[in-house]
Amino acid sequence: MLRTIGATTLTVTAVVVMGLTLPAASPSAAVDTMDTPTYNADTPTYNEHIGQLLFENCTGCHRPNQIAPMSLLSYQDARKWARAIKAKVVAREMPPWFADPEFGEFSNDISLSDEEIATIVEWVDGGMPEGDGAAPQAPRFSEAGWSHPSGREPDFIYEFPIEWQVDADGESPNFNLFTELPFDEEIRVEATEVRPGNYAATHHIVTRLFNIPPGMMIGTGPAWPGGPVVDYVLVEDPDYVEPEDDEDSEDSEDSEDVDEASSAGFGAYIPGVGAAVTPQGQMRSIRGDAFNAIVWNLHYQATGQPETARPAIGVWFATEEATTVSRTLSLQETTSEGEQLVAPPPAGIFGRLAAGLRAQAGQGLNPLLNPIPPNEGNWTVTGIGAIRNDSYIQSLFVHAHLRGKDFTFVLTYPDGREEILLRVENYSFDWQFSYDLAEPIMAPAGSTVKVISRYDNSRANRRNPAPHREVYWSEQSWDDMFLTNITYTLVEEDRPIAQD
Ligand code: HEC
Repeated sequence: MLRTIGATTLTVTAVVVMGLTLPAASPSAAVDTMDTPTYNADTPTYNEHIGQLLFENCTGCHRPNQIAPMSLLSYQDARKWARAIKAKVVAREMPPWFADPEFGEFSNDISLSDEEIATIVEWVDGGMPEGDGAAPQAPRFSEAGWSHPSGREPDFIYEFPIEWQVDADGESPNFNLFTELPFDEEIRVEATEVRPGNYAATHHIVTRLFNIPPGMMIGTGPAWPGGPVVDYVLVEDPDYVEPEDDEDSEDSEDSEDVDEASSAGFGAYIPGVGAAVTPQGQMRSIRGDAFNAIVWNLHYQATGQPETARPAIGVWFATEEATTVSRTLSLQETTSEGEQLVAPPPAGIFGRLAAGLRAQAGQGLNPLLNPIPPNEGNWTVTGIGAIRNDSYIQSLFVHAHLRGKDFTFVLTYPDGREEILLRVENYSFDWQFSYDLAEPIMAPAGSTVKVISRYDNSRANRRNPAPHREVYWSEQSWDDMFLTNITYTLVEEDRPIAQD
């Protein structure tokens, strides 16, 4: 679902417009004030090379009202930031992208090739010429700020019911608020988008469908242990009476079904991510019939002044052309030592989360995994998902917190052959991309997908807040998480779209 970072795959070296002689644009104020440089004729120019390259790889984030500190939509912008751009691209710190290029090709890959980096360096060192010819067309963004590529406004918008207050300074944790799901049927969507309401103060938002566990209700309480008391938190239901028989038995019948639906999520806002749009002809199912709430996982950052933020979810309904359901399979946890995982409870990851919430009274600890030991540099968690029907794997997603180190997705075919689909090196909590395969990979029934995730709770991990502590599993950023899934379609459903 986190699929639209940047634009399409890059073909910038082919974008040289040969022989085009347009009148030169009138010189801008910024250029006027500089000494008139003499450019080497071979120096790449903004109009021919650099502009398009920035649009395709940078302006998803580097534009007004986005998380990046400056816009890179114009020649003046790019020129002003040229030295910093050179430094960041040479260091490969920008654009952020973490897939090992040795494995897999991804349609949302925003990384720069060595050649493209060299082009930027030559442009900067050569005096940043604007060049003759037409300026490249900057991408357009909708006025209301939604980013469906068609420019359409959403068909349905659900706003969080209250404005969240962000303090001027200090750190606030990752926390969860809950609202009732505003519909009780299955809806089929082509796209969803989560907008933060305040880009500067929002670190990320992940929204998912949720079932309020028995004994709990949405009410008033601390947003996190010791946090401000607000509405829309999960609290114990004072009127709840524990049933005599197994409380989970009624869920278990269609738990598999629900598990798939649950891990599909509703949508997420992370830096640079716009609308999550299914590939053409596909739709996602949002199971209002199987869930009753939305969990909003929120993480805010102080900006130096008090801020308010009111996120919203936009939904674009699927058209009739969409015949294929895009599905999600979460890869469930087992550990490297094999023995820690207790029998999976009936309702998939959310049932477990709920069990955790219930068992730990608000601390939200996942009771099913052993904690990461103190000072452990290579704690491994392996998740496996079984492919039950011939499927096309489209996209891969990982989520961990500050100890997340690296992730390797391995597809094992029924004949035992193995293929590495993706290796995320140097995972960073700041950037949680999905990796969309350039070509879907056919996984026959009987295949498995495994993800091997390593966590670094040692001092060597610069971001580790507390190497001396055991790390539990929860949604709080001081704990860690193992949330990995794949998006796929069923081969039997993947019919061509009717043409007329
Ligand atoms: C997914 C979002 C995203 C993309 C794509 C991205 N950036 Fe950034 N960029 C950021 C954010 C956020 C920051 C500020 C925090 C940081 O430095 O990590 C930043 C910082 C920078 C800085 C440092 C600014 C300063 O204050 O010194 C430069 C330069 C930069 N980006 C250039 C680029 C270039 C060039 C590209 C494309 C080739 C690019 N970025 C792509 C999000 C992005």
